[in-house]
Amino acid sequence: MKEQLAKIRSEALAAFASVKTPSELDALRVQYLGKKGELTAVLKQMGKLPPEERPAMGQLANEVRAALEEALERTGKALEAAALEERLKKEAVDVTVPGRAPKIGHRHPMYTALDEIKEIFIGMGFTVLDGPEVELATYNFDKLNAGEGHPSRDWSDTFYFDKDSRVMLRSQTSPMQVRAMETMELPIRIIAPGRVYRKDEVDATHSPMFHQVEGMVIDKNVTMADLKGTLNTVVEQLYGKGTKTRFRPHHFPFTEPSCEMDVQCHKCGGVGCPTCKGEGWIELLGAGMIHPKVLEMSGIDPNVYSGWAFGIGLERTAMRRFKIADLRLIFENDVRFLEQF
Ligand code: DAH
Repeated sequence: MKEQLAKIRSEALAAFASVKTPSELDALRVQYLGKKGELTAVLKQMGKLPPEERPAMGQLANEVRAALEEALERTGKALEAAALEERLKKEAVDVTVPGRAPKIGHRHPMYTALDEIKEIFIGMGFTVLDGPEVELATYNFDKLNAGEGHPSRDWSDTFYFDKDSRVMLRSQTSPMQVRAMETMELPIRIIAPGRVYRKDEVDATHSPMFHQVEGMVIDKNVTMADLKGTLNTVVEQLYGKGTKTRFRPHHFPFTEPSCEMDVQCHKCGGVGCPTCKGEGWIELLGAGMIHPKVLEMSGIDPNVYSGWAFGIGLERTAMRRFKIADLRLIFENDVRFLEQF
């Protein structure tokens, strides 16, 4: 029996030592220490020993059991530690791998055009103003000499917030003329770019939201000649030296006289082609001498001061500048489109 116990001990310890997985280890535990295990089987024969041998053999058996249990636990722990090590290795994050670069956008061609326009006017001593898109009808219409009943105030054209038609999304940047007159010292030289809103269906040339740049000069002895000279200079800087312009009479409630300025078609040089719809000229902006009533309503004496103003569509300017055919491309902001400019 002594030999049996010694054999179990050495065999079991050797087996534990070479075990590779927790399930293998568990199988060995059952094999040696289980109820039907080898050690139990030997202990069951204890009764057959002469009584005087039983204590010594009992002690030996306990020592073997203790040794096996100790080896079992140690091996178990070692396997666990190895498994953890393995997992950590597998799940290790390589912090030196270069990151995925986030996609960045691209400057919008319309803002490139706006930057050019700002640059030109700042160079001539103008200040750039920003103003509210939610505007009072007083500023958008009344103080611009478009009184009650003026067709542009119609609900079919304008986004109002209240049933009395007093608060609205501005339909033009011209209210910035009034805001400048009310708050700035004379003389005034400003441009005011920004969004404007009208109830238009979206198509290749229309959008319910678009951008304008307003411009205004008020000083003593300002004339139509200053307006023409300034705008001609701007057009030459935007579209190249020698670009021809023409001024046509027009009507705006806040200017008198009023005009529209056309540029000669860059495509055909004035002969007439599809781009200019056979006209030879492309309409660029509205302008005029500020109506004396408008000056007066904002507290400026029209007998001492005079001024001119203009309003230019920014999308159109950018489309012409970068030869973009459809207005919707300007608003879709597809990076593949934007990256071309
Ligand atoms: N506000 C006008 C429009 O939206 C454009 C305009 C015309 C602005 C003449 C002006 C101007 O300042 O003098 O159609």
